[in-house]
Amino acid sequence: MKKTDLAWWQKTIAYEVYPKSFLDTRGQGTGTIAGITSKLDYLASLGVGALWITPCYKSPMVDNGYDVEDYYQIDPSFGNMVDMDELFARGREKGIRMVMDLVFNHTSEMCPWFVESRSSRDNPKADWYIWRDARPDGSAPTNWRSIFGGSAWEWCEERHQYYLHTFAPQQPDLNWECPEVRKALFDIANYWADKGAGGFRIDAITYIKKPAVFEDGPVDGEDGLSAVHAATANTPGILDFLHEFKAAVRDGRDIFMVGEANGVGPDELGEWVGEHGVFDLLFEFSHSHVPMGEAELWCRPAQWKLTDLKRALTASQVATATNGWYPAFFENHDQPRSTVNYFRCGGPLDAKAKALGTVLLMQRGTPFLYQGEELGYGNAQWTSLDQFDDVQSHGQYDFAISEGLSAKEALAACNRFSRDNARTPMQWDASDNAGFTTGTPWLPVHPDYAQVNVAAEEADPDSVLNWYRTLAALRASRDELVAGSYEELLADSEQVYAYRRQGEDSVAVMLANLSDETATYDASLVEGMGLLAGTHGSTETGTLRPFEAVVFGS
Ligand code: NOJ
Repeated sequence: MKKTDLAWWQKTIAYEVYPKSFLDTRGQGTGTIAGITSKLDYLASLGVGALWITPCYKSPMVDNGYDVEDYYQIDPSFGNMVDMDELFARGREKGIRMVMDLVFNHTSEMCPWFVESRSSRDNPKADWYIWRDARPDGSAPTNWRSIFGGSAWEWCEERHQYYLHTFAPQQPDLNWECPEVRKALFDIANYWADKGAGGFRIDAITYIKKPAVFEDGPVDGEDGLSAVHAATANTPGILDFLHEFKAAVRDGRDIFMVGEANGVGPDELGEWVGEHGVFDLLFEFSHSHVPMGEAELWCRPAQWKLTDLKRALTASQVATATNGWYPAFFENHDQPRSTVNYFRCGGPLDAKAKALGTVLLMQRGTPFLYQGEELGYGNAQWTSLDQFDDVQSHGQYDFAISEGLSAKEALAACNRFSRDNARTPMQWDASDNAGFTTGTPWLPVHPDYAQVNVAAEEADPDSVLNWYRTLAALRASRDELVAGSYEELLADSEQVYAYRRQGEDSVAVMLANLSDETATYDASLVEGMGLLAGTHGSTETGTLRPFEAVVFGS
């Protein structure tokens, strides 16, 4: 396969912006769409051609935009549709297409659809959400725990019924069984595609199909509840809905759709992506479950080894080798910072960031960077629960307490895994508030911002940011780094992650020492090849210093 055989979105680099924390052009403490537009040149310098913007539609912001009130309006805190049109247009000029986030499993409780649905049992939208009667004793229909903690059911006085919410109570789940719901959702996607969106990231898509029978699940915590996703994720029949979605929106357009698919593993990718699948790419989370654990309960982190992480990444690569395409990522707005998350040893964060960045950008697939990842800092350091904004962090804290952890231990669990770690303001320069806002930032800026920021890193040839630019340019210049195959090397090593990218006329080998000790490898793996890039500038073969990453090729 050659680069010329691939679609535009397979050859580019994608970047995720969390608008609330990217750049504030109004001094209000939260980011704006105009802030994104003003940084398109910065994004282009990283080789970005697809920009995933997390939801910026009108929203009460209980879950920072993942609770949508109106999918056809921009939330006034971000700007308006004129700003959005401007972003689309300026992006096009610079070769950057916008990727809209479609939150289709649920809406906000303030969405007019829900307001109508909750008003009675016989209104025109009565079936648009998941309504159930109470059990005879008045309790919730099942024992399911929502992903953000507490019962997944909320009582509605008007209807005298419960409604299901996989996430927060303010995020009621839509009923995809209702054809009008599906049509309303596909219309929204087509509206944004007609505007020129280059693609869609589809939120929480594995939860849209509910089981035919609602039953209690096995209790898995001291709260007496059972994780909702154990009962509702990836339920048989879901692909029928998604084939309909694809036909209504994707077919015939030069766009891509990437689904967020918790609950789908590499072995199932064949049905989900590619020619016969429903999406072009799928974010599956097997590698992020390695440190966090499958249950995603922050107070029950996993014991893990580097080989576990490598095995998960390689399984996803193998599953998309001949069918579909892989979205490579380490960070997003729901994950802690990768410099902390994927290392079990100490050591300098910038060195860790460069090594992990090399693993990411040399992989087969479309790399998805998350804002700030290219600067290489760590998690925030929160000292009290009040500092967390994230709704999930509060739920995880309460769950940890109910499991018997002390307040200190519960806080430590949140510090380790909280989504707010990824949501602190983007660090543009060393001025007040990292140049993010002239007002009061909605979340505190990271304590390291005076040293770790875009301006300082642009001026430093050895910075993480300049290393990312080097890798992006290297990737763009070599056929095998985009179109070549992936073969894992040194699979048993607990220090080095290595793989080979074989193209039709060229080859590259990436080796990254993800440990804080010197590692050795068989130099014949790179025999006859020259150094294309190296974090330590050394051409030596057979040895890697702590956190050293190299790319050889011929
Ligand atoms: C996944 C999103 O990435 C996350 O931020 C959000 O809270 C949930 N889905 C609910 O929409």
